Amino acid sequence: MQSTSSVVAESVTRNGFDWFRARCNALLASERFRRWAAAFPLTRPIAQRRARQLFDLCAGFVYSQILYACVRLNLFETLAEGPLSAVALSQRLDLPMDASLRLFNAAVSLRLLALTRDGRFCLGALGAPMVGNDAIKVMIEHHAMLYADLRDPVALLREGPRDSALGAYWAYARSSGDADLQAAQVADYSVLMSASQPLVAEEILAAYPLRQHRCLLDVGGGEAKFLSAVAVRAPHLRLMLFDLPAVAERARHRLAALGLSARSEVHGGSFHVDALPAGADIISLVRVIHDHDDAAALALLRSVKRALPRNGVVLIAEPMSATRGAEPIGDAYFGFYLWAMGSGQPRTPAQLRTLLEAAGFEQTRLIATRMPLQTRVMIATTK
Ligand SMILES: C[S@@+](CC[C@H](N)C(=O)[O-])C[C@H]1O[C@@H](n2cnc3c(N)ncnc32)[C@H](O)[C@@H]1O
Repeated sequence: MQSTSSVVAESVTRNGFDWFRARCNALLASERFRRWAAAFPLTRPIAQRRARQLFDLCAGFVYSQILYACVRLNLFETLAEGPLSAVALSQRLDLPMDASLRLFNAAVSLRLLALTRDGRFCLGALGAPMVGNDAIKVMIEHHAMLYADLRDPVALLREGPRDSALGAYWAYARSSGDADLQAAQVADYSVLMSASQPLVAEEILAAYPLRQHRCLLDVGGGEAKFLSAVAVRAPHLRLMLFDLPAVAERARHRLAALGLSARSEVHGGSFHVDALPAGADIISLVRVIHDHDDAAALALLRSVKRALPRNGVVLIAEPMSATRGAEPIGDAYFGFYLWAMGSGQPRTPAQLRTLLEAAGFEQTRLIATRMPLQTRVMIATTK
């Protein structure tokens, strides 16, 4: 328990901080102060940086659409073969010359492209990693739906995501009978998840190599992309997967194609109504919990606990809120993405810990990943 003096000290610090912030905000709201700060040499760099940050917030959607155009036109792949002149590049993209120049110059300003010394266009520092990167490309392409859903963000906030494009895309998000979803309703999101899964699997397995376990059940395991990465990294492990019947069918095909049928077991069902199969000593939930509101997430964690033996482990891997250096990815991007989708929310590690403890798990632990903005890993054990 905190001592009275430390509570008082904390409250003085908090009050002092709030007072200081209120004073700063009052100053920043004053046009006279802003004019002075932009003119005074010591505050000018700060004023310029803040102005630029605010402008980027205003213009972010334009930058995203420029990136989207580059991806749709296959610009990065085209330049992967080497630098091209503006004329040659515009011919390759089949775009009028003036429109091409508009796009190329914009892409240079965003560091997606760069200029060679002889004035040809080549890949820039942010465009080069896009080459051959299907994970990022499919993610950007499917953002067309999010872009449409966010057209009137106030209406989306007020009225909710009734007819959102993302709600239709992630069919389980708005379906009460999700076990009945048909193959066509799960195909697109399953392909998208598979494309982005290798990056996530690499992060998880580097953080938690699964050596001490004998059988892993991947719940909401999609097309078994994570399981197939696990199969390579942990050859001793028995593999199980649970997902909606139509997705489980896709997983069965993939595992068979990889020659992993004998080592694996695939179960179709809905975790909202069906019990999870027993037999695993570790259960993973990769990018699954944040898809669900608290009541459903808690019920799922309870079901996971029932399926585990004593000292069994649950592993949650997903991007989390309040990740230092990646704050907007959790609360702004995933916050609005999941709102538009109509189900779930990004959670802080503390919120996940609360859910895990309410479900009866103990020894909750966050395990460091190399790219926490992409995924963080939390594990907990059963008594
Ligand atoms: C965001 S995807 C993540 C897929 C995979 N774990 C990954 O990271 O690539 C969520 C997965 O949960 C599955 N899912 C959603 N609702 C489900 C339910 N009620 N029962 C079983 N699986 C469900 C979806 O079909 C989908 O495969």
